[in-house]
Amino acid sequence: MESSSEPKPIITVGQHIQESQRAYPTATGDFSWLLDAITLATKIIESNVRQAGIRDVLGGTGLSNVQGELVQKLDRISNDTIVRCLGYRDNVGIMVSEEDDEPIVARDMGERGKYIVLFDPLDGSSNIDVNVSIGTIFSIMQRRADTPKSNAPLSECLQPGMNQVAAGYVVYGSSTVMAYTTGDGVHMFTLDPSFGAYVLTRENVKMPPEGKMYSVNEAYRSTFPEGYQRYLEWAKTKEAGNYSLRYIGSLVADFHRTLLRGGVFLYPPTGQQPQGKLRLLYEANPLAFIAEQAGGAASDGQMRILDKCPDTLHQRTPLILGSKHEVERVLSFVD
Ligand code: AHG
Ligand code: MN
Ligand code: MN
Repeated sequence: MESSSEPKPIITVGQHIQESQRAYPTATGDFSWLLDAITLATKIIESNVRQAGIRDVLGGTGLSNVQGELVQKLDRISNDTIVRCLGYRDNVGIMVSEEDDEPIVARDMGERGKYIVLFDPLDGSSNIDVNVSIGTIFSIMQRRADTPKSNAPLSECLQPGMNQVAAGYVVYGSSTVMAYTTGDGVHMFTLDPSFGAYVLTRENVKMPPEGKMYSVNEAYRSTFPEGYQRYLEWAKTKEAGNYSLRYIGSLVADFHRTLLRGGVFLYPPTGQQPQGKLRLLYEANPLAFIAEQAGGAASDGQMRILDKCPDTLHQRTPLILGSKHEVERVLSFVD
């Protein structure tokens, strides 16, 4: 038993991945090589985030993306950083970014490009200029050799979230924390700036099964479907037992708090966004995978997020994400 006086071992994310991959005889180290590119990219993004204002990374680019949203300078820098770092890894075949209309084919299947990496390079862009936590979200799938060559790259990317082989996020907050799963629990690392490595801080993170906290932008409440409105009324009653509202406006930060403290995050259909605002492939899917691995749940109000078969690359989805019992409670009003 490790006494508190004994120094804790320093386990980096690379070591952790290699250790966990050792359990799989077929593991080729391919995956840790890929994850290394993602951790490298997030360290470069983190240094830009921490020097915002000193480096010219604040404000907009004056351009809009496929989402119809104004692209911030840090969105573009983060996107280009991830594409550059991943593009040099020969096991990355296709990249899908929130910032790019079409999939980026880095190399063909024949050249070992067996992984598809889907990512939101910078989540919470509206918070960049006001120094509020933002993040990066990623999802990893394998290419499907059976798809018709016609529009292969696109159709290879349109897989249900249950096919993910890994998922993770980095939250650039008061500290920089990475969480990832390969389907064998959720593990967390904190970036130690003194030597630039992500160090293991929590293994097999479990989400509290319930939590008296809901996270939603109530400004749109009057346009939510009626079931969501009834849930929000219920959550304010004495019978519900003093729920509090926490909403940062960065999905990755609102999720990180929910993962550690319990509760539920909601982005329902709204008048403006009848399908919800959040994107299935690189926001809902990766966080749903992590939530379920930590004992939580993720639904679109009708079905499990990870069962959804996407029709388009940037498809949006309603999202109910968090503690198992809290998601079930919302569904009891919404279903
Ligand atoms: P992104 O910055 O990648 O476009 O994501 C922003 C998302 C998500 O981070 C957050 O939960 C949501 O937008 C906030 O939306 P509202 O401002 O409509 O509440
Ligand atoms: Mn986002
Ligand atoms: Mn984004």
